[in-house]
Amino acid sequence: MTLKNDRLLRALRRESVDCTPVWIMRQAGRYLPEYRETRTKAGDFLTLCKTPELACEVTLQPLRRFELDAAILFSDILTIPDAMGLGLTLNEGVGPRFSKPLRAAADVEKLPEIDVSSDLAYVTDAVKMIRRELDGAVPLIGFSGSPWTLATYMVEGGGSKDFRLVKGMMHDQPRVAHSLLQKNTDAVVNYLKAQAAAGVQSLMLFDTWGGVLSTPDYVDFSLSYMAQIVEALKADEVSRDIPITLFTKGGGQWLEKIADTGCDAVGLDWTTPLSDAYQRIGDRVALQGNMDPTVLYASDTKVQTEATRILHEMGTANGHIFNLGHGIHPQIEPARVKTLVDTVHSVSKEIRGN
Ligand code: CP3
Repeated sequence: MTLKNDRLLRALRRESVDCTPVWIMRQAGRYLPEYRETRTKAGDFLTLCKTPELACEVTLQPLRRFELDAAILFSDILTIPDAMGLGLTLNEGVGPRFSKPLRAAADVEKLPEIDVSSDLAYVTDAVKMIRRELDGAVPLIGFSGSPWTLATYMVEGGGSKDFRLVKGMMHDQPRVAHSLLQKNTDAVVNYLKAQAAAGVQSLMLFDTWGGVLSTPDYVDFSLSYMAQIVEALKADEVSRDIPITLFTKGGGQWLEKIADTGCDAVGLDWTTPLSDAYQRIGDRVALQGNMDPTVLYASDTKVQTEATRILHEMGTANGHIFNLGHGIHPQIEPARVKTLVDTVHSVSKEIRGN
């Protein structure tokens, strides 16, 4: 199928583009009134994720408002631990909670292997439906959490500020931690292969909490498992040509190591200058990012000047996908997002002399 807009895939391959592609982490979400309406109709967040028609609807909502260059599957990284039976609930203002967190070696040992084709069929059904509805307008991005980031929620039983329990397991029972990370890795590989088979055209791993680790712990407990995932996907006939983006929030000091995994693109939070990242790894991978999401609380003028500043860091170099450095906040005015998307397109065209 030929895409009507293939800027994202061209940029991921570091080919030339007429203007810089842009999409936004959490582009479907609570800052959109139509999302809140669909979520109310669904009853709760998990039902929204598990009902392909509704997941498809909210995936498409931001594309009706803004000239985004990609759709991202509406789902959550916690679908895998949910399928493993950890008892996930997601309540507004509380965040995710697991009723059966993994605290002891025996909990990890008992963790069941999931069968993606049945346990997560709602995700692949949503992918097929979204591809049909998109009809080639823009590519569809699939995703998963990294094994480490999933483990943080599975062991802590929810979000955490200090990661006391999961780091405790890592330091005191490294074999148990590795066993959990390997189980997560196997599940993520099968999950992403299934998303690829169902039709996603790009894949992203969210390593939201890799940045809380020391360098040796990051390499052993997070990066090595992401590298395994990249290798497995590149060895598989169905997924080998699908570009993979790795995003470790707070991982700016490890960019070379991340690029060494053989991934196609590296996501950047706002603390690493894009121009530095380009100097360091821009000859090997594409770069995604990296505006501070809080700029969207400011005026249209500030959004324009900040987006312009970031675009000038790349200049006319190939291989940039504009994004925020982390997810958009629920309180943002949708009008700021329109300003951002339109600015990225118009300014990057000007920079290229188009
Ligand atoms: O980007 C997109 O538009 C696709 C959808 C998407 C969601 N979550 C929807 C969501 C994606 C890619 C995610 C990934 C995700 N989920 C991550 C990694 C990226 C990141 O943000 O760091 C993480 C750590 C999670 C876990 C998670 N899910 C948390 C911590 C929360 C609660 C936080 C909050 O904002 O309340 C969720 C719930 C969630 N996932 C919401 C959305 C739109 C809000 C749920 C709601 O409607 O109340």
